[in-house]
Amino acid sequence: MVSDVTNNPTSQYYKTASDLELRNFYAAKASINTNFSIPTIPPTIPKVYEGSVARFGKDTAELAVSHFQGVIQSFFVGLIGAKRILEIGTFTGTSAIYFASALKRNGVKGNPDDNGNKSVICLDISEEFAEIARDNFKEAGVEDYIDIIVGDAHESLASLEGQQFDVIFIDADKISYTAYFDAAIEKRLLAKGGLFIIDNTALRPAIQLIDCPAPLPKDKMPEEGMCDDFGAYHYFGRPIHEFNEYIRQDKRCEVVMLPIFTGVTLIRMLENN
Ligand SMILES: C[S@@+](CC[C@H](N)C(=O)[O-])C[C@H]1O[C@@H](n2cnc3c(N)ncnc32)[C@H](O)[C@@H]1O
Repeated sequence: MVSDVTNNPTSQYYKTASDLELRNFYAAKASINTNFSIPTIPPTIPKVYEGSVARFGKDTAELAVSHFQGVIQSFFVGLIGAKRILEIGTFTGTSAIYFASALKRNGVKGNPDDNGNKSVICLDISEEFAEIARDNFKEAGVEDYIDIIVGDAHESLASLEGQQFDVIFIDADKISYTAYFDAAIEKRLLAKGGLFIIDNTALRPAIQLIDCPAPLPKDKMPEEGMCDDFGAYHYFGRPIHEFNEYIRQDKRCEVVMLPIFTGVTLIRMLENN
């Protein structure tokens, strides 16, 4: 359940929300600094959630970043003085609106640079989602900041060679995380001092592989009691666990996984490697 922290929630919300949801809500609300002229939680975000739920069903609310994750990611944008952001996996635009609003708050201009590139480049495979996201960007007043490239991110990433980004947010199909990370490094898309933010790195099917080596043998089935859903293990658990092990062993990376939401991993590249 996504509560609207920009308004007072109903007493029904307080009664039915879990401890985790309440803590999330409380933390998001405590993160709103009323002195900012551009709010840390962009005012149209609740409408984006509502629109997605109305069109694609209530489970889709979980696809978008939560208010609290949005404000944390925005904080990183200001912290590292980011000017350009690449997002892989945009859905209806929630995280991109947070990123663009953070750039705006920090004085970054949205209009295209001399090469016609905007500050935030979003990649998504779905034209349907992209169309909705574009409307949501307009509604949020950040359409000048964001371009969406529609297509398979494996191909779109190759087309970005020559550009650089201060933040690269990976939140698309979980089976491709390692490929997206490798492509970003190989094409030198991350600027010096830049930050990778990777979503969903502690999804339940992955943490059930806590003691497994990686890469896992291709024919390996989950151990008894290790995983309650073979499908989830197969499609999410294995690739996410392998990605986590892959970057953990990469000497070029400093990695920290925040055990919040479904896991958010931060990666910065060491400069002497
Ligand atoms: C979890 S959602 C992204 C949520 C978004 N960051 C937000 O906060 O609202 C994942 C997105 O990845 C996109 N996606 C899945 N496979 C993809 C691929 N191969 N290339 C590009 N996008 C892909 C889906 O269409 C979906 O919109």
